[in-house]
Amino acid sequence: MASASGSGEGSIHSVLVENRVFPPPKDFARHAHISSLEQYEQLWNRAEQDPEAFWDERARELIDWIELYSTVLEWTPPHAKWFLGGRLNVAANCLDRHADGPRADKPALIWVGEPGDERTISYKELRDEVSRFANVLKGLGVTKGDVVALYMPMVPELAIACLACARIGAPHTVVFGGFSSEALAGRIQDCSAKVLVTADGGYRRGKVVPLKANADGAVDHCPTIESVVVLKRTAEDVPMVDGRDRWWHELAEGASTDCPPEPMDSEDPLFILYTSGSTGKPKGILHTTAGYLLGATYTTKLVFDLKEDDVYFCTADIGWITGHTYLVYGPLSNGATAVMYEGAPNFPDEARFWKIIEDHKVTILYTAPTAIRAFMKWGKQFPQRHDLSSLRLLGTVGEPINPEAWIWYHETIGGGRCPIVDTWWQTETGAIMISPLPGATPTRPGSATRPLPGIVPEVLDQSGNPVPDGHGGLLTIAKPWPSMLRTLWGDDDRYKQTYWSMFPGRYFTGDGARKDADGNFWIMGRVDDVLNVSGHRLSTMEIESALVSHPAVAEAAVVGKPDDLKGQAVAAFVTLESGQQPSEELKKALAAHVVKEIGALARPDVIRFTEALPKTRSGKIMRRLLRDVAAGVDSTGDTTTLEDFSVLAQLRQGDES
Ligand code: WT7
Repeated sequence: MASASGSGEGSIHSVLVENRVFPPPKDFARHAHISSLEQYEQLWNRAEQDPEAFWDERARELIDWIELYSTVLEWTPPHAKWFLGGRLNVAANCLDRHADGPRADKPALIWVGEPGDERTISYKELRDEVSRFANVLKGLGVTKGDVVALYMPMVPELAIACLACARIGAPHTVVFGGFSSEALAGRIQDCSAKVLVTADGGYRRGKVVPLKANADGAVDHCPTIESVVVLKRTAEDVPMVDGRDRWWHELAEGASTDCPPEPMDSEDPLFILYTSGSTGKPKGILHTTAGYLLGATYTTKLVFDLKEDDVYFCTADIGWITGHTYLVYGPLSNGATAVMYEGAPNFPDEARFWKIIEDHKVTILYTAPTAIRAFMKWGKQFPQRHDLSSLRLLGTVGEPINPEAWIWYHETIGGGRCPIVDTWWQTETGAIMISPLPGATPTRPGSATRPLPGIVPEVLDQSGNPVPDGHGGLLTIAKPWPSMLRTLWGDDDRYKQTYWSMFPGRYFTGDGARKDADGNFWIMGRVDDVLNVSGHRLSTMEIESALVSHPAVAEAAVVGKPDDLKGQAVAAFVTLESGQQPSEELKKALAAHVVKEIGALARPDVIRFTEALPKTRSGKIMRRLLRDVAAGVDSTGDTTTLEDFSVLAQLRQGDES
C-alpha cells in the first residue's frame, strides 16, 4: 500500500500516485442490486454489444409510459432522439405512481430549514402540492412549452415548482440563488421565460439572501416575464409590483389539488439548465423528457443501490444539475425518501450535516470533495459528536477527490464500513457516467473507476487515436446515451462546435483523463477554459468579460490557481486603462464588480495588476504561463513564442495579493 501523498501538490498529482484498492464490503455486496464485478461486466458487455436492446429493457422496466415508444433510438450525429412515439409524464413517474400505491404515506421529502424548522412531506402530499402549483401556473397563463424560471432558496417549494412545470409540460430553468441580478437576467432573456418564481429571501449562514430584490433588478430587463410568483420564506418586507407580482400562498389558496399530468412526447423539453463554457456566454443545456428521466432513474437506483427503506441525503443545491438529477428526479422517480437541507454546512455550527444524519437516520450521503476538505479542516470532533451509524454508502461528485479527502471520508464519516462512489458526470450528460457500483466495483481513492453499463467512454489523443492505458488524453464518449443533452437552447451551431467538432460522431467532454490497465478512469480535470471552483463550474472568459466591463480595466486574463480547499481558486491578471492607478481599493472594487455581474461564487481570490499580459505573436494570451505564474511554479513549457519576455519576468517578480 502506498501512503497518501502530500496535499499541497493539488489533486491531479496525488491521484496519479495512488494505488490502494478497497473491495466492496461482503455484507454490502450480498444485498446489492449488482453484487459482483462479473455481474457488472456481463451487463456492460451486453449493453455494449446491443445498446438499443439494453436501453429498451431499462426503459420498460423503470418508466411508466402512457403510450409505449415505437423506436428506441434515432441517431443522426450529433442529434439523438430516444424512445420516439412514446408518451409519458415525468411528474407522474416521480409522484403518482407512488402516491397511488403502497408508498402514498411514505416520506418523499424530509426538509430541514437553516433556522431549524423541518417538514416531512409524503408522496401523496407532494403530489397534491405539485398539482396545486401546476394549477397556479396554468392560472397565470402558462401552457405546454412555455419556459418558467425558478430563482429560489432550497425549500420544498423549489422541488414542487420543478415538478409542477413537468406536470404541465412547461420547461423550467432553475437559476442558482447565488447568481446576481445580471446573471439571472441573462438567463431569462436567453430562454424568453414567461413566468419567474422566486421568494422574498432565503437563509444562508444566518443571513437573508435578498432574492426578490435581485429578481426585481433582473425582471426590469426581461420583457418576456409576465408574472412573478413570490414565496414567503423569510418575512422580509419586499415591494410587490402591481399586476405583475403575486404571493405564492395567495395563489395556492384558491387552487385545486387536482391536475391531471400532461401526456408529453419523449423528446419534449423537460428543462434548460445554464452552465459555463469556454466563452463568456453561459450555455443553455437542454434535457428532454424520457431520456433524462431514464438516466436519472437508472443511475440513482444502481449507483446508490437504492432500497425501500433508504434515507438519502444529497447536499447539492437544486440550482445545479446534481440537485436536479439526484435530489429531485432520480430519488423521487425511484420512490425514495430524500433529505433536503436549506442552508450552510457550518450553521449554526460545523456539525450541521452530522446532526441531520443522526436526526433522520440517513443511510446514503452524496456530497462534494470541496465540502469534505472543509470538514477535514474543521476537524473530526464535529462528526464524532453524532451517531453516524445509520450510514451505509457515501458518494462524491463535482471534481477529482484527492486521496487524503477520500480516506478521511471513508474513515471519519463512513466508519471504514461504507463504500464510496466517486461519480463522474456533467450538466451535459444529465446523469452519472463513470462510477463504482458499490456492491461490485473495487474502489481506488481518486478514481471514478468504471463506466456504467450502456456508457462507452474512451481516452483519445488530439488526433482521435486511442491513448495507451496509463497515459493521459482527452475523455470522449463513443456512443449516444438517453440522458445526453440534446442541444444548446437557441444555439445548435455552438452545440455542434463545442461537443462534436473535435471528434466527429463522438461526444467530447472537455476533461482530461487516463485509464489504467484495470479499466479504471482517473479524471484529470478540464482541458478547456472552464474552472472548477469548489465544484462550481466557471468560465474564465465570463469573469474576464465582467472585469473588462469595469471602466478602469483595459485587459484581463483569468486562470485557475491550485487551492487546497476549493480545488481551484480564481486568479485574475489585470491591465489598467491609462491614467488609472493600481491600489488595494481598486482591487476591492473590481472584485465587487465581478460579484455584481456574476455572483459571489465568481469573486476573484487574487487580482494582480500588470503592465502587460504575455501574448503570442498572433496576440493570444498565453494562459499556460499565467497558470504557472499564479501557481508560483517555473514555466517549464516553451516560451519562445512570447511576444515580450520582459512581461513574464515582470509578472514573476510581482507581489501576490
Ligand atoms: C465537470 C462538470 C456533474 C455534477 C457536478 C458538476 C468535473 C464532475 C467529477 C468527478 C472528477 C469531476 C469535471 C466535469 N467533475 N464530477 N467525480 N471527478 N471531476 O457538474 O458543473 O457540469 O461540471 O465537473 O471536470 O467536466 P458540472
